[in-house]
Amino acid sequence: MQRLNGKHVLLGVTGGIAACKSADLVRRLREAGAEVRVVLTEAGARFVTPLAFEALSGHPVAGRMFDPQGRGAMEHIDLARWADVILVAPATAHTIARLSHGLADDLLTTICLASSAPLALAPAMNRQMWDNPATRANVERLRERGAHLFGPADGELACGESGMGRMLEPTQLAELLAGLFAAPLLAGVRVMVTAGPTLEDIDPVRYIGNRSSGKMGYAVAAAALQAGAEVTLVSGETCLSPPCGVTVVRVRSAAEMYAAVMQRVTHCDIFVGAAAVADYRPVRRAGQKIKRDRVRMELQLERNPDILGEVSALDRRPFCVGFAAETERVTEHARAKMSGRGLDMIAANRVGEPDSGFESDTNSLEVLWNGGGEAIPLATKERVAQRLVELIAQRYGKRPFAGSTG
Ligand code: PMT
Repeated sequence: MQRLNGKHVLLGVTGGIAACKSADLVRRLREAGAEVRVVLTEAGARFVTPLAFEALSGHPVAGRMFDPQGRGAMEHIDLARWADVILVAPATAHTIARLSHGLADDLLTTICLASSAPLALAPAMNRQMWDNPATRANVERLRERGAHLFGPADGELACGESGMGRMLEPTQLAELLAGLFAAPLLAGVRVMVTAGPTLEDIDPVRYIGNRSSGKMGYAVAAAALQAGAEVTLVSGETCLSPPCGVTVVRVRSAAEMYAAVMQRVTHCDIFVGAAAVADYRPVRRAGQKIKRDRVRMELQLERNPDILGEVSALDRRPFCVGFAAETERVTEHARAKMSGRGLDMIAANRVGEPDSGFESDTNSLEVLWNGGGEAIPLATKERVAQRLVELIAQRYGKRPFAGSTG
């Protein structure tokens, strides 16, 4: 577990049943070395008493603005300055909405507004509330302003339903919070990511394509950037806006992607092939639109270069991570792809299902490397990409020649 030694954690506890887990969270944060002060909203105090948090944190609990028991009119400013980080757990839909709109109608929201400390939110709510476009917009607005979203997780909810909306466990939250203070995992590392589909032209109006939206590859690029890497994104045609700060090279066909990658890959340390590269292309691209005068026609195809295979075969090769899109025997096929191309790691996903693989906003991966692996459970592609990048950073750090800059 990463440490929070000496860090001042201001824990905001709002009114949801998950507030019961926040008592344990205080314990976990203190075990990690943090000093914790709790701000309990009025609704939060209906679920857990201030006394419990006082006993666990070793500090009086702050609650209301202008509390005669508090430290006077400037208590919100004192606490805002004291905090190295603010964690709101649970963060209810109502609190998220208030924070998103910059309201300062109680002590917790006022502190959040008055503090320059990083803000982390651990949402907990019914799945319909989480899916509601109003909540999504509020969350996005907070994320754009730099707030860290920890969760929610998929699972059984207090309301009896099951789905996204469960607060992460206290140990996970303490771990994620400590991660905010850790040195960036890929600082100074150059990462190239391929993303999206390749389109293979048949004539000026038709092409062979596939269903890749680019979401997975773009999420990997964003996660690598967040981990401190210098990122080049070689992207097939998508409707997505690339993450700010990434160098983007746009391509259409597999041949163009191959050229773009090979031209730049010797300058990179890690290569991640998330693109859905067409295995075949038409032998000839007709100069004019093909007419429908024939009853039957044959299209002759030839094999495209294997970009990942060629990168992996380079003398001065980067750390190579492939993806495997499979509809059956996922692990077996992925292992064969990894060993066939001599890859360092492969991320296998099941395609052809609504929640994972192509086009969806969520995915799950089975990540394999020589002698090990980890299953990343179904979550948003952003979250899955963050965990994948953590695994890549770990394995990259453990490679035999780690430490030499090459
Ligand atoms: O873009 P999304 O809609 O978010 O969907 C995500 C995804 C399903 C496209 C992504 O998660 C994924 O699985 N990408 C790899 C798709 C693919 O082409 O898989 P494959 O099993 O056919 O290829 C294996 C690996 O070889 C891949 O890393 C691929 O980039 C690479 N390859 C394939 C063919 C080729 N000619 N050159 C390659 O480099």
